[in-house]
Amino acid sequence: MTQKKVLLSGMQPSGALHLGNYEGALRNWVELQNSGKYEMFNCIVDWHALTSGFDETEKLVPRIYEMAADYVAAGLDPGTTAIFVQSHVKEHAELHLLLSMIIPVPWLERVPSYKDKAEQLGLDSYGFLGYPILQTADIIIYRANVVPVGKDQLAHLELAREIVRRFTFLYGEVFPEPEALVTQFPILPGTDGQKMSKSYGNFIALGDEPDVIKRKVMSMFTDETKIHKTDPGHPDDCPVNIYRTIYDSEWTREISDLCAAGDESMGCVKCKKNLIRALIDYFADFRAKRSELLADKALLDSYLADGADRARQRAAETMVLVREAMKMF
Ligand code: TRP
Repeated sequence: MTQKKVLLSGMQPSGALHLGNYEGALRNWVELQNSGKYEMFNCIVDWHALTSGFDETEKLVPRIYEMAADYVAAGLDPGTTAIFVQSHVKEHAELHLLLSMIIPVPWLERVPSYKDKAEQLGLDSYGFLGYPILQTADIIIYRANVVPVGKDQLAHLELAREIVRRFTFLYGEVFPEPEALVTQFPILPGTDGQKMSKSYGNFIALGDEPDVIKRKVMSMFTDETKIHKTDPGHPDDCPVNIYRTIYDSEWTREISDLCAAGDESMGCVKCKKNLIRALIDYFADFRAKRSELLADKALLDSYLADGADRARQRAAETMVLVREAMKMF
C-alpha cells in the first residue's frame, strides 16, 4: 500500500466563517478530504491569533467552538480529518523553539507585510516576528507534503521551505519540503464590492439566519451606474450577480444578459430577492447542523479531543526524529 500524502490546513479562529472563507478555503478543504487522497490535519491556530488578539483572549474559546461547528457543518468529517486546536498539541511550541535557533532574524524581517502589519498592530512583538516560524512548525510537525493556501500565504510557504532546507543542511533529512496547493477561486467580493472581510463588516456569515441574510442582501451594492431598471448593468462586476452565479440554482446566463441590456424584467431589487431565496436555501442544512452542534459543546469537545490525540501522535513521532537528528538527549 502506498502511503497517503499528508495535508495540513490551518486558519486563525476568527469566529463564525463567512462566504469568503468558504469559497477561499473551506469548500476546497472538504473537496480535498473527499478525494480520499490525503491524510488530513486541520489546525485551528489559536496561538497565532494571539499575535493580534493578545488583549482579548476571552474571545478565543467561543470563536474556536464556532469555527469547529462551521467546519463540521460544512462537511469536514472529524472522523477523516483530524480537526484540532494548535495549543492542544504542545509539540508545535517545542519545534517552534528549536527552529528559532537556526533562523536568521533578517529572514523574518523581510517577509512582506511584516513591517506594515506590525505598525498597524501598534506592537512589534517578538511573537509577531516569529509568526512564520510557528506557522512552519504547524506544517512540518506533521511532515506535511501539501498545504492548501490562498495566494496571500505563498511568502510564508516559501519561507517554510527555506527553513526545511536549512534544517536538512544542518541536521539531515527529517522533513519533506511542503508544497503550496494554491486555491484558484477568485476572491469573493463583500456586500459593498470590496474584498469580503470580518473587519470591513461587509460579510455574510455561513450561519446567518434568514432575516439577517435578507437585511444584508437588501443593502448590498450593485452597480452604481444602474440607477433605473432600464439602465444597462455590469453584472460581471456586481456582487449580487456574482453570488447568484454561485448559490442560485435558478441562475442562467440569460439573467446577466437581461441585466446588461437594461431589460425591465431584471431590476436590482428582483435580483436581490432571488439571491435572498437562494442563500436561505443553499445554507439551510448547514444552519441546522451548525446550531445542533453549537448546542452540544460536549460533542464538539469530543471531536477536538480526538483530533488533538491523532495530531499529537504524529507530532510526537516527528519530535523523536527531530531530537535524534539534532543529537539531543
Ligand atoms: N497564516 C495563516 C493565515 O493567516 C494561518 C496559519 C497558521 C496557517 N498556521 C498555518 C495556514 C499553517 C496554513 C498552515 O491564514
